[in-house]
Amino acid sequence: MCGIVGYLGKNGAEKVILEGLKRLEYRGYDSSGIAMHSGSELKIAKFKGRLANLSDYLTENPGNSPVAIGHTRWATHGEPSDANSHPHFNTTKTIAVVHNGIIENYHSLKNELSEKGYTFSSETDTETIPHLIDSFYEGDLLSAVVKTVPLLRGSFAIAVVCADKKEIVAARKESPMVIGVGDNNDFFVASDVLAVLSYTKKFYYPENNDIIRITENGVEFFDASGSPVTRELKTVELSADAATKCGYDHFMLKEIYEQPDSCANTVSRYCSGDEIQLDFGSIKNMAAYDTIYIVACGTAYHAGLVGKLALEKYVKIPTTVDIASEFRYYAPFVNEKSLVILISQSGETADTLATLRNAKAAGATVLSITNVAGSTIARESDDVINTAAGPEIAVASTKAFTSQITALFLLAIYLGKQLGNISDEEYSFLMSELHLIPEKIREVLADMSSVKAAAKRIKKCNQLFYIGRGLDRVIAMEGALKLKEISYIYTEAFPAGEMKHGPIALIEPGTPAIALVTQESAAEKTISNIKELKARGAYVIAIANTSLEELRKTVDFVIEVPDAEGILAAIPAIIPCQSLAYYTSIYKGNDVDKPRNLAKSVTVE
Ligand code: F6R
Repeated sequence: MCGIVGYLGKNGAEKVILEGLKRLEYRGYDSSGIAMHSGSELKIAKFKGRLANLSDYLTENPGNSPVAIGHTRWATHGEPSDANSHPHFNTTKTIAVVHNGIIENYHSLKNELSEKGYTFSSETDTETIPHLIDSFYEGDLLSAVVKTVPLLRGSFAIAVVCADKKEIVAARKESPMVIGVGDNNDFFVASDVLAVLSYTKKFYYPENNDIIRITENGVEFFDASGSPVTRELKTVELSADAATKCGYDHFMLKEIYEQPDSCANTVSRYCSGDEIQLDFGSIKNMAAYDTIYIVACGTAYHAGLVGKLALEKYVKIPTTVDIASEFRYYAPFVNEKSLVILISQSGETADTLATLRNAKAAGATVLSITNVAGSTIARESDDVINTAAGPEIAVASTKAFTSQITALFLLAIYLGKQLGNISDEEYSFLMSELHLIPEKIREVLADMSSVKAAAKRIKKCNQLFYIGRGLDRVIAMEGALKLKEISYIYTEAFPAGEMKHGPIALIEPGTPAIALVTQESAAEKTISNIKELKARGAYVIAIANTSLEELRKTVDFVIEVPDAEGILAAIPAIIPCQSLAYYTSIYKGNDVDKPRNLAKSVTVE
């Protein structure tokens, strides 16, 4: 999604903005731009395509501005083009705005502004904002923004500069935004701390509907009516390295290899020895809940499907798993007896956030599992489990997924033990199995030769099927998502037993299929389904830890993974799927970390 970086200080705004935008590239974008304070005017440069275009411009036109705002755009209203790129400006180019999010009522605003004589040079919703600010501007940017914000419907984070003054005025509603404070009387606005982590670790996290004024005298916060409010300056503990590749070719590869640590860190964050310490403030009595609803999007949804299996086994409360963009509009039975578990790496996904608010309005208790402490979802939930995966930069989610499964496993056995559904002996066994996971991941990562061979085999195919039963089916779904996201091969996951009810018609001689076989109880049946595919000419790769001898006779090749207890088996088994997607994408020459059309943090509906 779009990225915002703003700077006020003496370090040369162009350099800070460019570096910040580079660090936000991972969010996905199709154009970039900057508005710089230059004497008593604003200089604006913006380009469709890679950030290199903006970088080339700034090399040819060097500057040392005291104030600037920059943006990477991920198109929503209007195609990627120079004109649609941000910043957008008023007719006289004295006010410039960068914006993340969507202005839902832009159409009516545009009509009203056009009737007043304002002309538009882009197809964006954003362009209404500088014109509106212009219509209220009488020399005080803050009060013009205070009058503008209530007219905007939708979600947004905006940063505004004007030619008259060295200041930035920012505002946020629903979309994330942080304000950084440097050591040398310099200040930053960003949509993500990672953008400016190399300059400061001190941040304000503005509340929803806050309006912020940054001048060389400091940062002031105002509520929606323009009255001053106080916000707390916090220090983040992330190192600036968190946003670098540390010698790996791609962020995705680095993050795949970080999984032994991200899982171990998630365990140690909530455990003292074998004792799980999830000291919830709101979830006190599980007997108060008759249903658990897990709600999430994409990869986090798949983690939820895995988590359901453990929650139903150990907590013994019926658990449903839904996609947030559907659930937010259809959840008729959510009430005060519902525990809603939201899973979100970013903690900012718009549909998941909307689910949170609907669930709370319906009286439910909301527990979120997020990877970003201080994210909107974390802040608004009744209770939170923060996975300790560290920043996930690659668009394709990897280490967040395995950390989410780790957190769900901890949650399930913690509640199961509290409810008396797990004996002390079983609990100790489950914890010892959990502690083995990092080593099992390392074992898979130690030899990628068969994954690379499989990637070479499938790189030219047009379609591919993943199959599995039970837990294996969920691993298959996540494996298929990874492959389609970055290799662009049309990949679908099916329950193994479902193929013969229709999808098997798509199998032709040579069609590749990947079968997950990690559950002994389902292996025999899955092998029968594999044989049905083989009989129709499919080329079958198995990712397996059981029935290996039989599989070797049946399939074209086996990628062996270590066995693990219950849902934990999903963790070693997903590693070859993630790596297969990675290497297939590399062999196809794709941009792994920035796959086409995708954004990292999906803050629009
Ligand atoms: C897939 C991927 C997406 C996200 C989804 C939810 O690799 O990254 O499917 O999982 O957009 O994002 P979060 O977890 O941030 O809510």
